[in-house]
Amino acid sequence: MKLGVNIDHIAILRQARQVNDPDILNAMYLAIGARADQITIHLREDRRHIDDIDAKNIINFCSIPVNLECATAITDIVLSLRPNRATIVPEKRQELTTEGGLNLSSPELPSAIKAMMGANIDVSLFIDPNLDDIKAAKELGVSTIELHTGSFANAYLMAFSNISKTKFSIKSLENMDIKEALEAELDRIRVGAKFAKNIGLKVAAGHGLNYQNVGLIAKIPEIFELNIGQSIVARSVFVGLDQAIKEMKRLIDEA
Ligand code: PXP
Repeated sequence: MKLGVNIDHIAILRQARQVNDPDILNAMYLAIGARADQITIHLREDRRHIDDIDAKNIINFCSIPVNLECATAITDIVLSLRPNRATIVPEKRQELTTEGGLNLSSPELPSAIKAMMGANIDVSLFIDPNLDDIKAAKELGVSTIELHTGSFANAYLMAFSNISKTKFSIKSLENMDIKEALEAELDRIRVGAKFAKNIGLKVAAGHGLNYQNVGLIAKIPEIFELNIGQSIVARSVFVGLDQAIKEMKRLIDEA
């Protein structure tokens, strides 16, 4: 299973002081050296971390595939950047991170997909792991989907970490049988991945994956790639990016 390393959070640290430190290209080269299979970046409409110059430099200098997460609103920029893959994601200006999968009935989606595929860019859609959305993604003609693992990751945190005792407790999960909720989320991903592969889609997954929960997702045979950012960059603060990536790769390989 491949690992796409999302380096957006290196740029978050840089933006905190508006200086070129840490340098995003250094992060990219370190990730390549640690044998990441892909670099993933999200060029958000508000440019809160990765900006246009970062995206251009990463796409120009990267020796491994670049997966550019984007909203349809920046299709023209994606066409000029020409990443190996564009993963279309929903974007809300106020959200901390991408909170849910795409609405596949959005009117702007078919033309954005057509334009990107016409420019030889592989297109993936970031969707919730449910069968209707998987069927709709197939009908839109893309090669790849990325299943949103955020609900699974939230249930895992509430079940197996101390988060429920902190201010970060996830309120909507507080009064649930959390082990049952976790099993249900995991099952949705397993069933979705199997169904998607059977109808000819390539299946990636990501969001909220970390050193504790990644094994459960990495065991799913139909998934070919995971995109992971926050937990790797967080761990790199303590052990360095090289080791953080290698540890994650080992957990995926050993799952
Ligand atoms: N995949 C997609 C499509 C995303 O939008 C994100 C977050 O930018 C990730 C994966 C990585 O999520 P995380 O930072 O929680 O590992």
